[in-house]
Amino acid sequence: MRFSDSIALVTGAGSGIGKAAAFRLANEGARVILVGRTASKLENAAMEINESNKIPRAEVFTADVTDEEDVRELADFVKEQYGDLHVLVNNAGGSVHSKIMDTSSSDWDFVQNTNLKSVFLVSKLLGKLMADSSGADGDFTQNRSIVNIASLSGHQAGAHIPHYSAAKAGVINFTRALALELAPFGIRVNSVSPGFAVTPLTEQGMKNEQFVKAIRRNTALGRAGEPGEIANVISFVASSEASYMTGSDVLVDGGWLIK
Ligand SMILES: NC(=O)c1ccc[n+]([C@@H]2O[C@H](COP(=O)([O-])OP(=O)(O)OC[C@H]3O[C@@H](n4cnc5c(N)ncnc54)[C@H](OP(=O)(O)O)[C@@H]3O)[C@@H](O)[C@H]2O)c1
Repeated sequence: MRFSDSIALVTGAGSGIGKAAAFRLANEGARVILVGRTASKLENAAMEINESNKIPRAEVFTADVTDEEDVRELADFVKEQYGDLHVLVNNAGGSVHSKIMDTSSSDWDFVQNTNLKSVFLVSKLLGKLMADSSGADGDFTQNRSIVNIASLSGHQAGAHIPHYSAAKAGVINFTRALALELAPFGIRVNSVSPGFAVTPLTEQGMKNEQFVKAIRRNTALGRAGEPGEIANVISFVASSEASYMTGSDVLVDGGWLIK
C-alpha cells in the first residue's frame, strides 16, 4: 500500500474529486483528514471511507479554507492530533459564471479566494508543519508531497469563467514557486489539472445536452471524466512513485488540449 504510515489531508473532501482522492488515499493505507465547510458532507464521506476499511482511517475537520483563522486552527489540530503531515491535497475550489464586463469585484474576489488564496493559506500553514516535521527527523526518504488541483482552464481560458481561469493559472505557477521553496525539506509540490469531470461543480452543465455534446466533440477520448479517474492521478503524483517529480502540472483532460 503506497500510503501506509502516511497522514494525508484533503480540502474539499466532502464531494467530487476531493472525496474520490480521500477514498483512494485511505484505501491505500493513509489516515485522512477531510476538510470542507459542510460538516454533513464530510461526515458522510468519512463514514463511507471508514465502512470500507477494517481500521477507521478518516476524520473530519470543518473549516473555510479562505479564512486564515480557520486554517490556523486546522494546522493546530493536525499538529496536536497527528504531529505530522505527509500528503496535502489542495482541492477545494469553485466558480461562478460571468463575462469580464459583467463581473463584480465581489465575484472576482470570491473566485480568487476560493481557488487561489486558499491554496496559499493552506500551503503556508500546513506546509510549515510538513517542513518542520521533515527537518525534525532529517529523513528525506519519507515521502512528503503537496498536490494542488488546478484546471484545464488554467491552460486555456474557459468561456465565461475569466476569474476562475486566472485563478487556476495562478495555482499552476504558485505550485512552481512552492516546489522551489519546499524542495530543501524533501517536499514535492505538483498540480493536477482536470478537464471536465462529473461532479457537483459540473452537475448543472451536464444536464445541458449542448454542453455534453461539446465535451464529446472536444475531447480526444469523447467523454467527460469520472472523479475516480482524476483521483488515480492525484494519488500517483502524491505517492513516492512520483519521487523525481516536482513543480510539474499534470493535465487529465481526456485529450481536450490536443484537439
Ligand atoms: N469537476 C470538474 O470538471 C473540474 C475541472 C477542473 C478543475 N476542477 C477542480 O477540482 C476541484 C474539486 O472540484 P469538484 O469538481 O470535485 O467540485 P465539488 O464537488 O463542488 O467540490 C469542491 C469542494 O470544495 C469545497 N469547498 C468550496 N469552497 C470551500 C472553502 N472556502 N473552504 C472549504 N472547502 C470548500 C466544497 O465543499 P463545501 O461547499 O461544503 O465547503 C466541495 O466539497 C476544484 O478545485 C475544482 O476547481 C474540477
